[in-house]
Amino acid sequence: MGKASLEVTRQQPQDMARVREIISRLRDRPAPLLPILQAIQKEMGWISEEAMVEVAEALGMHPSRVYGVTTFYTLFATGPKGEHVIRVCASAPCHVPGAGAVLEALKKALGVEVGETTPDGKFTLELTSCIGVCGVAPAIMIDDQVYGNLKPADIGAILARY
Ligand code: FES
Repeated sequence: MGKASLEVTRQQPQDMARVREIISRLRDRPAPLLPILQAIQKEMGWISEEAMVEVAEALGMHPSRVYGVTTFYTLFATGPKGEHVIRVCASAPCHVPGAGAVLEALKKALGVEVGETTPDGKFTLELTSCIGVCGVAPAIMIDDQVYGNLKPADIGAILARY
């Protein structure tokens, strides 16, 4: 199979020798795609587009399938994490009073989607399940700091602290 390619929008280097080692360790499992992606995420912190192509070739599948799986699951990061990781609680007690609007405000302010890192490497935006402060929903965490009772209008002032 020739070098298949993805329509890459940005490419950042990743240690491909380590990616290949993870693939060869797990490729003989039944249904190896998810275990390989999980291992790359766990051991390397993120999954590059180059790594997705490598995984696709090793497993004999089209890269778009690997890309689809990787971007479907929010636990997979498609870029290195930023200096600060923002986690928006997506569990129901936060979702109902407006976590979706807070998430939209964050996406707009940062110019990234969930799972992405800002071009300056400062922030990574992620979703999380309940962070244990449902009494002040909707809530987010930036690194270890929790912010609750949020409205979209609060986001600018919070980001300005970082
Ligand atoms: S549901 Fe969001 S903090 Fe518990």
